[in-house]
Amino acid sequence: MRPVPDFIHEFVPGRSERTLLLLHGTGGNERDLLSLGRELDQNASLLSPRGQVLENGMPRFFRRLAEGVFDLEDLKRRTHELADFVAAAAEHYQFSAEQVIAVGYSNGANIAASILLLRPQTLHGAILFRAMVPLMPPAQPDLSSVRVWIGAGDQDPIIPTSESQRLAELLRGSGADVTVRFFNAGHNLTNDEIEAARDWLKSWV
Ligand code: MLT
Repeated sequence: MRPVPDFIHEFVPGRSERTLLLLHGTGGNERDLLSLGRELDQNASLLSPRGQVLENGMPRFFRRLAEGVFDLEDLKRRTHELADFVAAAAEHYQFSAEQVIAVGYSNGANIAASILLLRPQTLHGAILFRAMVPLMPPAQPDLSSVRVWIGAGDQDPIIPTSESQRLAELLRGSGADVTVRFFNAGHNLTNDEIEAARDWLKSWV
């Protein structure tokens, strides 16, 4: 039996209770972040879906009208579909739904942030590389038991650092424990920040 609603995905069983939900950037796929996930946590299970929207043939997790301008109705619908998929996958693969940590890059980080804001019970934590405020939630979520690490590039031409800061404030305002780090980088990830995110994750008790 496959998880419903279905996404093309990879699942790699791990040796601990934790599952990393890997969410790729625009033009990526379900295999893109598997090695990053393993680098971040040697023991976690990895669940990696492929975004179901195609923009000029490039997979994404939700539609946008222009760079940084999102189709909010589509974003909301797809946020719920993805959260439902994670719940169904937890049942199907028998991993703990209480120990899911999103690891998202760019468009994947934006839908992870949207899950935090609209379906907060889905995630125990999140690592958001190059994220912005995806939408304003209709009601304030309770994120008091959620930890979030945000990595921003100080020369990122797509996501200004002020946006990462705005996201951090929004999540903090809902009770999340948020760490924001700025790196000497553009939109692409650097080894430094992967190491920093890994150390942050390791520091969880
Ligand atoms: C988005 O559309 O989610 C952001 O602009 C990042 C991206 O270019 O994918």
